[in-house]
Amino acid sequence: MLAFDLAPVEDTDMGDQSSNSLRHDPTRSTLERLHTEARGDRIKFLGLAPKVLGGLLSGKGWFDQITPEAMKECFIPVSPEQGEFLYLTARAIGARNIVEFGTSFGVSTIYLGAAVKDNGGGLVIGSEIESGKHARAQEHLEQAGVCEFVDVRLGDALETFRDIPGPVDMVLLDGWKDLYLPIIELLTPRLRPGAIVMADNIFTFKAELRPYVDHMQCGRNGFESTTLKISDGFEYSVRVG
Ligand SMILES: C[S@@+](CC[C@H](N)C(=O)[O-])C[C@H]1O[C@@H](n2cnc3c(N)ncnc32)[C@H](O)[C@@H]1O
Repeated sequence: MLAFDLAPVEDTDMGDQSSNSLRHDPTRSTLERLHTEARGDRIKFLGLAPKVLGGLLSGKGWFDQITPEAMKECFIPVSPEQGEFLYLTARAIGARNIVEFGTSFGVSTIYLGAAVKDNGGGLVIGSEIESGKHARAQEHLEQAGVCEFVDVRLGDALETFRDIPGPVDMVLLDGWKDLYLPIIELLTPRLRPGAIVMADNIFTFKAELRPYVDHMQCGRNGFESTTLKISDGFEYSVRVG
């Protein structure tokens, strides 16, 4: 994983700050700390490996074993490169209403919350099914100075997203991979024309995400889409219908 290396900009007495919160504390220092902490995921994955391998050999599926409960101590965050790309995209389209499937400890959510804040206000609606992660995300969002721009809903996103109001400007899909397709089908009627949808882990979960990628790329479902070679593969889709 890349280090979080965005150069800070000194605040001056004149108050001429850059409008990029990622370059300023507390957002910058919180992201730097969380990306560093997330490196500990590697050790946690190693601890889980024997059980998972045993399960795969005995015929259990990936998603039967890699459950939110099993991963409750792991960040599994977007990389700094992806985070900056999310931030820049949200800034480019002036996003004020963003939906995120899979908040975990809140790393991606901080990038999105910072963009909404720097765009002049709005709301990121996040989702997390693990209560411990939900509580930690809340703390991190407060530490990063973006909590007033974020509402992380606790529970299964298929339920907590039912009443999301439109128009939605941007979506990040980064929860469990078997739900990308049902979640985007649920949200599609609320996406504004030109809305951006980004979906992570296209390369690692190539087979599992094939139906999602086909849905977004086939040109019959109101999207134009391409897979970007950023980190683990970001499916980048534009709502054109
Ligand atoms: C890859 S992590 C998200 C990482 C986060 N986007 C970041 O960059 O920090 C996926 C998260 O989705 C959560 N999740 C899985 N299934 C879910 C569901 N049905 N509803 C809400 N959250 C879910 C998991 O508990 C896990 O924390």
